[in-house]
Amino acid sequence: YEGTVNIPVYVHVIYNNSSENISQSQIQSQIDVLNADFSASNGDFSSIPSDFSGVAGNANVQFTLAGTTIKQSNRTSWPTDNSMKYSSNGGQDAISPSTHLNIWVVNYLTSGSNTILGYAQFPGGSQTTDGVVIGHKYFGTNGTATQPFDQGRTGTHEVGHYLNLRHIWGDGRCKQDDFVGDTPSSDRPNYYCPGPNEVISHCRSRDMHMNYMDYVDDSCMYMFTNGQVDRMRALFASGGIREDL
Ligand code: ARG
Ligand code: ZN
Ligand code: CA
Repeated sequence: YEGTVNIPVYVHVIYNNSSENISQSQIQSQIDVLNADFSASNGDFSSIPSDFSGVAGNANVQFTLAGTTIKQSNRTSWPTDNSMKYSSNGGQDAISPSTHLNIWVVNYLTSGSNTILGYAQFPGGSQTTDGVVIGHKYFGTNGTATQPFDQGRTGTHEVGHYLNLRHIWGDGRCKQDDFVGDTPSSDRPNYYCPGPNEVISHCRSRDMHMNYMDYVDDSCMYMFTNGQVDRMRALFASGGIREDL
């Protein structure tokens, strides 16, 4: 696929307590991070160590805010069952999901007894539930965004899934692939904040822990690879699953 891919975005804020009704500035800050990260113009791109700078990629995807919906709900938390994607459940229906990325920003997201930052639907699923869901504390870079997940990278990671990327360790053992040739194999996520020069090896090669599809803190992830870029951009080829508007 050639040129810049343009994706219009609807953000749906579903809050209970008024403090969770995030500002327009917090919403725009997330869009800004997506635009920087998906064009390799993030300020920390230069932190990529020489081991990996040769495979660092530019997705060349741009996001524009098409509109925002705001809704109060009596729910104080949401499970990862897509209930927030239906107004009949106190949530908000997706708007034009075949052409627009829908992002639901909710107060608390739970998976079993754990709080989670966000989740996404891979391409090819039901239109009604297509998009990503993010907790307000992990969305954007100001307002209620909370350290160490206050740099908008949960959005980048989840939009990576929305554009067909798997976790970089393939969600399994060393031989379990993420279907990307230039990402080193690993058998587990990395957490917290390994520095650019910290060498961590789980599968006879250095983990690319600074990749957006790992699990490190927001300020410690700053790259996609060319192979990941190809996988995302393939979705926009003619007859592909997603559309460039
Ligand atoms: N756990 C979430 C997922 O698997 C998101 C992880 C995002 N990491 C971050 N540093 N913001 O989709
Ligand atoms: Zn993930
Ligand atoms: Ca790989």
